[in-house]
Order: sequence, then structure tokens, then C-alpha cells
Amino acid sequence: MKKTKRAPAARKPRPVSRAALSGEADPRLVRMSVSIQDDAALHSQDIRGSQAHVAMLAAQGIVPPAVARKIRRGLDQVRREFAQGAIRHDPRLEDVHTHAERRLGELVGRAAGYLHAGRSRNDQVALDERLFIVESCDRAAQALAGMMRSLLGQARRHEKTLLPGYTHLQRAQPVSLAHHLLAHVEMLGRDRERFGEVRRRAAISPLGSGALAGTTLKLDRERVARDLGLDGVTRNSLDAVADRDSAIELCFACALCAVHLSRLGEEIVLWTTREFGFMELDDSFATGSSLMPQKKNSDVAELARGRAGTAIGDLVALLAIVKSLPLAYNRDMQEDKRPLLGAPRMLVETLDALSGAVETARFQPERMRAALEGGESLATDAAEWLVERGVPFREAHEAVGKAAAFASSAGRPLSGLPVAVWRRFHPRFDGGVLRCFDPERSLARRDLPGGPAPRRVAAELRRWEKLLGRER
Ligand code: ARG
Repeated sequence: MKKTKRAPAARKPRPVSRAALSGEADPRLVRMSVSIQDDAALHSQDIRGSQAHVAMLAAQGIVPPAVARKIRRGLDQVRREFAQGAIRHDPRLEDVHTHAERRLGELVGRAAGYLHAGRSRNDQVALDERLFIVESCDRAAQALAGMMRSLLGQARRHEKTLLPGYTHLQRAQPVSLAHHLLAHVEMLGRDRERFGEVRRRAAISPLGSGALAGTTLKLDRERVARDLGLDGVTRNSLDAVADRDSAIELCFACALCAVHLSRLGEEIVLWTTREFGFMELDDSFATGSSLMPQKKNSDVAELARGRAGTAIGDLVALLAIVKSLPLAYNRDMQEDKRPLLGAPRMLVETLDALSGAVETARFQPERMRAALEGGESLATDAAEWLVERGVPFREAHEAVGKAAAFASSAGRPLSGLPVAVWRRFHPRFDGGVLRCFDPERSLARRDLPGGPAPRRVAAELRRWEKLLGRER
């Protein structure tokens, strides 16, 4: 690879955007307005957009074809240099757009000056962001599929593992571990759909909107959009450069997904405690303590929990930046870079790590089973047993409630009460009620769509496996 050519140190490039201004910008202004440290991450999108733009300019007879070819080749080189970190950041050049244009000028000379015809950094950055959002949605959907496959793999292994489902973090009713894990798959499935919807609205081209009010040059907007794999063009030039909806929607999709992962994270934190003992992380996904030698911590799950805070912050930051801005472009919008670029990267990283942690974790079926002992989590079944015998539900609820309170105060398991005792709480009880205290039987009988009955869960497992298998 050829060594990168640098501008001679003596030549101070004059920023392209100061055409009407005298002298140089005050260094304090320069420090405040520079964004290359953040938006260099958009270099590949920026260069793709420029190459499509100049190809169109040539096709429209606005730029000589030979010049366009030279520019495209030069931009390939600029992309390589960005990727290698070989582009020297100059604060006075502000952003990725001017850095790319300036470097192109160093490489191809005067020809570079043809590139920006009919374009503004306002529609340019709007395009870069849309291309970034499209790619981010695809990457997030892919990472989500990986996480869902990890959950499905464990669900497959634990169709017959029973544990209490919880409300208020109190033991409520038995479910299978598969049903519980599939609940997380449902949430993440909605996230995947959401990223698809965000992508669809993002995938249109704003190029041709200029600074805010279009251009007198005869651009072919549709051609640029097609060339970039986008599905159409924006319909109002003012809106096109002022709109950050897709950025906000992407951050919302990231935030909600991060919130979902925080709920899974919280359960992993709880389940891996000695107190619960439902789950053990593989050592490769566990962390230790710098002081206490015995510790095995689930930092991966805690980070997933904590990062939801960062993701929510990114969304709120974007909303607040755009709030009350007059049309069309305002420099406030440059502040969108950190949340927009940060949120999807952090989400994908979290999904990848958590996916590995779930895939390699071991669940403890005996501990889960032990949490079902005593039969308290089958009290509802006993009440429904009475309902099936014509007793009003409220009356049944009351009777079983009293039986449960009695058992608890007598220090006996609810499942161990003899028929004679049950009868003290309602005359309709007979020996049949004792059959309610079989968790497997209870599960099999909760057989409605969406319910935990094994055949329903098996069908859901197959449905998800097919869906994710198809997209591999
Ligand atoms: N770096 C700017 C941003 O991200 C690009 C647009 C600059 N436009 C302008 N009129 N100064 O918002």
C-alpha cells in the first residue's frame, strides 16, 4: 500500500465554508464546532453518497464523464485512508464532509471542485444518516436473531423443566422454562419487526434538496436513490434537511430493545444468586472480584441492565435536540451524532454478549422444581376446580384463600391438606381437589392459545425455529 500523501505543513487549507467571511475563525469557535471526531464514523456512507451523486452529475451532463471517473476513483482512495485512520483531523475543516472533500482535492486537484454541485452539507448529512440507519437496522436485526436463537436453544432443552412463574416477584403459577424463555423471544421478536419498520421509513434519499430549497441544476434524484439501494426520494426539500425522525426512531427501537434486555438481565442477576440458584453462567461469561476470591458475578447481565439507562438517555437527547427547532436545518442538529452513532453500536454489542451468556448458561431444574414444593402455586387451580363445579369464582377464591392461610399458619404445605380440612372451607370440596396439586397436570390443562400447556409451547417453539431458520 502506497504511503498516504499529506498536504505540505506550510499550506494552511482555507475551510470551504468560509467563502464570505474574512480571516480565520476564533479557536474557541473551532473547538466547539468541530465534529470530525464523531462523524468520521460516517465516512463510508458519505463517500457512497458522493460517488452516486457524481455519477448522476455525469449522466446528466453537468460534469464531464472523465472528471466524474477521476472523482470516483479519488473517493475510493479517500475511503481507504479513512478506514486506515490515515486522514489527519483538522478542526478547522469541521466535519467528515469537508474532510473528505478536502482530501479529494489533494488527490485529484481542481476536478474535485465539481463534486458538490447541486448539493449542500445539509442534504448530504441527512443522506449519510439515512444510509447509516438502514445499515444499523440490518445489523440490529441480525444480532437480535442471534439472541433469539440462544433463547430458543435453551427453551428446546427445557420444555419439561418446570418452575414458578412470578408476579410481584412472588411465586404465582407453574410454567415451563421453555414458556418463560419464549416470553423473552416474543419481546425481541417485536424489536426485530420494529427495526424493519424504522428501516423502511429511513430508506429514501434526501439528495437534491440542497441546503433547504432545492437547486436549479437538473439533477436526477431517483437515479441517485436507486444507485444507493434506496426505495425513493423525500417529497419536501425543507422537511428533508430538517427531519431527524428516522434517527429518533432508531434510538427509540434501540432504547426499547435495551429495556427488554434489562429485564432479561435482571432475571439473570436474580437467578444466578445462591438465593435463587436457578441458573449458572459459564465461567467464560462470568466475572470475578478484585478482592473477594470466591466471587462469581454476572456483570454481563448487570451491564445489560445498566446500558438501558444509556440507551434511554440517547433517545431523550435526540428528542430534546430537535425540539422547537425552526425549519429547516440548524446547527443544533450536529449534536445528534453521539446518540445516533452510539446507540445501535452499544445495543449490538450487548446483544452479542448476552446471547453468548444465555447460550452457554446451565439451568438448574431441581432448584426450580423445589420452588414449586408445597403446592401454593396451584391454589388458583383449586379455586378453578370449584368453579367447574358451579361455585361462583369469588366464593371459590375466598375458600382457597382461607385454606392457604390455614396451611401457612399451621406450617403445612397446601398440597398436604386432607379432604376433611378442605371441606371446612367449602362444602363442595371432595377428594378430587387433591389432583390439582400435580404441576404437570396443571400445565397440560392450561391449554389455550398463548398458554403454557406443553403442546402450545411446542407449537410456538416450532414456529419461532422455522421463522429464524428461514432467515439464516
Ligand atoms: N456537520 C454538520 C451536521 O452534522 C453538517 C451540516 C452542516 N451544515 C451547515 N449548514 N453548517 O449537522
